[in-house]
Amino acid sequence: MVFRIHEKIQYARTLSSEFYLDEKYFQESKEKIFARSWQLVATVDEVNNLKPLFLLEDFLSEPILLVRNESGIICLSNVCTHRGKILVEKACRARLIKCGYHGRRFDLNGKFLSMPEFEGVEDFPSDEDNLTRIPCEQLSGFVFVSLKPSFSFPSFFGEVKKVFEQLGWKDLKFVGARDYFVKAHWALYCENYLEGFHIPFVHKSLNKVVSDYSTEIFRFSSLQKAFTDELEASFEFSHNPPYLAALYFFIFPNLMLNFYPWGLSVNIVKPVKPDETRISYLTFVADESKLAKGAGANLHRVEMEDEAVVESVQKGIRSRFYDRGRYSPSQERCVHHFHRLIAEFMSVEETAVENS
Ligand code: FES
Ligand SMILES: [Fe+2]
Repeated sequence: MVFRIHEKIQYARTLSSEFYLDEKYFQESKEKIFARSWQLVATVDEVNNLKPLFLLEDFLSEPILLVRNESGIICLSNVCTHRGKILVEKACRARLIKCGYHGRRFDLNGKFLSMPEFEGVEDFPSDEDNLTRIPCEQLSGFVFVSLKPSFSFPSFFGEVKKVFEQLGWKDLKFVGARDYFVKAHWALYCENYLEGFHIPFVHKSLNKVVSDYSTEIFRFSSLQKAFTDELEASFEFSHNPPYLAALYFFIFPNLMLNFYPWGLSVNIVKPVKPDETRISYLTFVADESKLAKGAGANLHRVEMEDEAVVESVQKGIRSRFYDRGRYSPSQERCVHHFHRLIAEFMSVEETAVENS
């Protein structure tokens, strides 16, 4: 399959359905897309001292360890450099990292400290005995990591950083997490998110609130703005109608940051199988009094409506009579942008990925 999406939306055709159906592309996307992008892994508050986790648990499953040490929060490989045991199994506090298998010890920067019964071993310890340091960044109280970053953190998150600064939320309170499972390819779920075209057809109640819609496209992210005529359903800084009701920020390849007047709904789209995806919802409240109002009022209902259409598309693209579609130039710019990024990342040769 050739990954090529025409730069001009008027001429372009969507990705071939092969991309969503063939296990081969699903596997290739691990290294080519997901290992090379930035993943939200925790909030800063969650990392007390040692916090182990598996990055994209059902997909990359890379064992990583978030460490709060004297210099802040860093990320290390959580695999012992001796025989490969997982080092830290549960979040805990400790002054050093000690392997439970044969007693190898590391400091909180991942540097090898000691190992019993290794007297006489040549060329030991070397740099290979230290834990690999994984690039780690923070933004507005969230921690991100990238296994092999293809581009800098600001090139993905620079635009959304401005939104956090404009909102100036001081006390975003974490109120809950919930996972949804969708029987569809991860990219189909993202594509549905990336257009407001379907709102009048699929989300009748949301459509009553949303009076207008606009989109902006950046290098690795896109922003959809929903407007409303209802003043009480809008952001405080929005003074003239149509009022701003929601900001939907998508950061390639799988992060959705949904800003509402009440706070932030985070959706992380996590591949499980080519036709199964976990959506992790994290909810953070800034102003409780606005919770039941506007575009962010009934997210569960909207999620159910979206899942039904996305699962229907998953069945439809298996058809012998469907391969690629066209784009609406006025409504599907963000989908076109998303497909172009998939094509760009998937076209990188394996050797280039290895060396990047
Ligand atoms: S596997 Fe860690 S010390 Fe042997
Ligand atoms: Fe939707």
